[in-house]
Amino acid sequence: MADMRFRRLGRSGLVVSVVGIGCNNFGRKVDDAGTKAVVDAAIDSGINLFDTADIYGNPHGASELALGKALQGRRDDVVIASKFGMDMQGANGADHGARGARRYIAKAVEASLRRLGTDYIDLYQMHAPDAETPIEETLSALDDLVTAGKVRYLGNSNFSGWQIADADWTARTGGRTPFISAQNEYSWLKRGIETDVIGACERFGLGMLPFFPLASGLLTGKYQRDAPAPAGGRLSEERYAGRLAGAPWDTIEAIEAFAKARGLGMLDVAIGGLAAQPAVTSVIAGATQPEQVTANAAAADWVPSEADLAELSTITQP
Ligand SMILES: NC(=O)c1ccc[n+]([C@@H]2O[C@H](COP(=O)([O-])OP(=O)(O)OC[C@H]3O[C@@H](n4cnc5c(N)ncnc54)[C@H](OP(=O)(O)O)[C@@H]3O)[C@@H](O)[C@H]2O)c1
Repeated sequence: MADMRFRRLGRSGLVVSVVGIGCNNFGRKVDDAGTKAVVDAAIDSGINLFDTADIYGNPHGASELALGKALQGRRDDVVIASKFGMDMQGANGADHGARGARRYIAKAVEASLRRLGTDYIDLYQMHAPDAETPIEETLSALDDLVTAGKVRYLGNSNFSGWQIADADWTARTGGRTPFISAQNEYSWLKRGIETDVIGACERFGLGMLPFFPLASGLLTGKYQRDAPAPAGGRLSEERYAGRLAGAPWDTIEAIEAFAKARGLGMLDVAIGGLAAQPAVTSVIAGATQPEQVTANAAAADWVPSEADLAELSTITQP
């Protein structure tokens, strides 16, 4: 495996690895010992970006707790990204859906800091837009957290292009800290954000952290059309049977053929290919086992040519 590559996240000084790790399995499918093993493998592979959220884990918060424990003694060597704004079902008090409100954010950040066992979060992301609270108020509350040193950089998630533009204009004209990252669903099977969000990220200097980059495992090569699903995989669970049967197999097989023709695996295309797309800074694939995270980190070794990307772009439709 080549050395890990690092990039600045958007128009900022925050440097992150080209492959990060999504932590939504921690405190749910993966216990504390398993989390430690995955985190160790990630750090050994050169990964420095750990993406979690207050809502991840069962119960909510368990992912932050497990990550905080696994990072003990190494916290300052890594970049912790967390999120607020999804429905914590009362864990932060009654919020009446106003989770972009100053009152709510003040509570949410303290709870995340406590669970993570740290006194700062490197990247604090608004998990979803709040249609009711003015973005001025949200940005002002977040800016106060930066000034207080509780968080260092700000990001958003599940915003549309116009919401990114609006938040950027509001932050800059109001003298507030702007968002430096966006997090949206993006993979070679889901390219919808290319028509709107990616352009906004480029224009306003945000780095994209694509979620579901492996389409929950469909782009790892471990699932095949009409073959029994391997035991233990997320899509092997009974409740996802429909998702597997209804998967876009023609496209998946075309990506597999594209990879094979170059002596690559699906993972190389899923991760190395996505990392080469405009605005994408770090591909935050989830992992349940140390071997997975090691393989995901190595997949960024493949750097596609312009011709590779043009061909890939015709195989999978935006
Ligand atoms: N902002 C948002 O609204 C939002 C929403 C969802 C997720 N996210 C973030 O995005 C991250 C990534 O999403 P995700 O983990 O759900 O989806 P994903 O990256 O598309 O899929 C990851 C899953 O695929 C399997 N896998 C990973 N690497 C593999 C490998 N090398 N070989 C075989 N199987 C492998 C693992 O599941 P199994 O071992 O169980 O098969 C893993 O949990 C999350 O952890 C989270 O941080 C954000």
